[in-house]
Amino acid sequence: MSRFDSLRSQLEACGQSHVSCHIDQLGTDAAEALMRRIESLPLAELPSLIQQFVLTPPACTGGDLQPAQCVSVDSRRVCESVSLVDESSLRLRGESMLVEGKVAAFTVAGGQGTRLGWAGPKGTFPASAVTGKPLFRLFAEQIMAAQQKWGRTIRWYILTSEINDAQTRAFFLDNRCFGLDRRQIMMFPQGVMPAFDMKTGQILFESQGELAMSPNGHGGSFAALLSSGAIDQMEGRGVEAISYFQVDNPLAPVLDPVFLGLHADESLSSGEFTSKMVSKTDPAEKVGVFGSMNGRLGVVEYSDLSTEQAQSVDDSGRLRFAAGNVAMHIMSTDFARRVATAGQDDLPWHRAVKKVSCIDPKTGDRHVPDEPNAIKVERFVFDAMGIATQPAILEVSRSAEFAPIKNATGPDSAESSKQMQSDLYGSWLEQAGVSVPRRDDGGVDGAIEISPLTAMSASDLEHVELPSELTRSGNFTC
Ligand code: UTP
Repeated sequence: MSRFDSLRSQLEACGQSHVSCHIDQLGTDAAEALMRRIESLPLAELPSLIQQFVLTPPACTGGDLQPAQCVSVDSRRVCESVSLVDESSLRLRGESMLVEGKVAAFTVAGGQGTRLGWAGPKGTFPASAVTGKPLFRLFAEQIMAAQQKWGRTIRWYILTSEINDAQTRAFFLDNRCFGLDRRQIMMFPQGVMPAFDMKTGQILFESQGELAMSPNGHGGSFAALLSSGAIDQMEGRGVEAISYFQVDNPLAPVLDPVFLGLHADESLSSGEFTSKMVSKTDPAEKVGVFGSMNGRLGVVEYSDLSTEQAQSVDDSGRLRFAAGNVAMHIMSTDFARRVATAGQDDLPWHRAVKKVSCIDPKTGDRHVPDEPNAIKVERFVFDAMGIATQPAILEVSRSAEFAPIKNATGPDSAESSKQMQSDLYGSWLEQAGVSVPRRDDGGVDGAIEISPLTAMSASDLEHVELPSELTRSGNFTC
C-alpha cells in the first residue's frame, strides 16, 4: 500500500476522510507538507477524543469538592485551610538548592495570546511601567540578578510553539540574549492539535494545504521537555527542580528560595509538584481554584464552581474556595519525566469553544464565523498535580507576585499590570523611606519601575541612592 493509501485508510477509520480528499489537487510540496502534518496527528486516539471532548459538553466537575490545604509564611493568612510554616528554614533550604545549581527556570511561552492581540510572541510585549521592557527582558534580568546572588549559572528553558518559535529565537538574538550567555538558554516547541468543527467533530482547514492547528496547551510542557532533550540536559547538569512560570506575568519571581524550600521539605511535600496560590477575595473572580476531589488535588475552573460553592465562607468569613491558581509551580525533573512517559494519558484534554476562520478544502471557500464554530483541545500543566503524591501549595501575596497581562484593555491588561507594578515598587520605596504620591483610591500616582538588577525585594534598596520624594504623576525608574 502506498503512503497516501495508508493515510487515506487511517483517516477513513477515524472518521476524517475529508482531510485527504483534495490532496491530489495540491502541488507536490503542499501535498507532502499536508501528508507530514496528517502523519503527526494521533489518528488512532481521535475518535474517542472527539467523542469525549469535542461532541460532548463537559460535565460540571465541582461536585464533591473540598478546599485544598495550603501553607503560608505569614501568620495573618492562617485559617481553616492555611497553616503556618517557618519562612527562614524554607528560605535556607531553597538558597542552598540555588547555590548548588539544582534549579532551572522554565517559562511557558507557546500560547497564541489571542486576547492580547499583540503582533508577535507575548514575551516580546513591552510590559514594564516606565521603560516598556519586554517580558523576556524582565525575566532575563531576574536570572542575571540571581546568578550574581547565588554565584551559579542558571539554565533557562523556554517553551515555544510552531507559531512563535522562529520569532522568539530572532528576538533573543536581536537583543543579544539580554546579556545572558546564549548557551544557557534552550528553546523548544510544544506539540499542536487541530481544531474541530463543534457540530461534526471534523478537523478544520486553515488553508487548502494546512489544517487549523494550535498549541496543545501548557500541559504539553511535559512531552516537549522530554522530546526536546531538555530533561536529559537538566539531569546531566545536576538540575533537580524546574521553576515553572508563565510568560505573561511580569511580577513572577523566576526563582523563589522559600517556594523551592517548601518543594524540597520532606515533611511538607513529596518534592514532585509544588504550587503557589493567591487568595480570591471576590467570589466572581475568574480564576481557577485549588481543591481536592476524592482525595486528589487539582484545579477547578471558576465556571465549574456552583454559585453556592464560590460564595461559601468558613468560620472566619473567608471564602472556602479561595486558593486561586497563579500558574507558578515547581516540579522535579524526575516527576516531569514520569508524567511525560507514563502519566501523559492521565492528563485530560480540556475543550475551548472558539471562533476559527476556516475553508472548505474541496472548494477553497472561506468561512469567517460570527459565532463560535470550533473546539480546540488543550492539556493543562496543573492536572499533573493529581498524579503527584503529596503536592504542597504556598499562599503568596497577590500584590507582590501577580500582575498578568492577558487582555488588550480592562482587567489583566498592560494598563492594570503597570499600575500593579508601580504599586508594588512604590511600596518598596516607601519602606526605604521615600515619600510616594498616592491617589484617593490608594494607588500610586505615577509610574514606577525598579529593575531586578537594582533590587529583587524592598530590602535590596537599602544601599541604593534614592530621592526623598517622588513627583506626583511622574515617572521614576532605578
Ligand atoms: P493562556 O491560557 O493565557 O493563553 O496562557 P494564551 O495563549 O497566552 O492567550 P489567549 O488565551 O490566546 O489569549 C497562559 C500561559 O501559558 C502559555 C502561554 O504562552 C502563557 O504564558 N501557553 C498556553 C503555552 O505555553 N502553550 C499553550 O498551548 C497555551
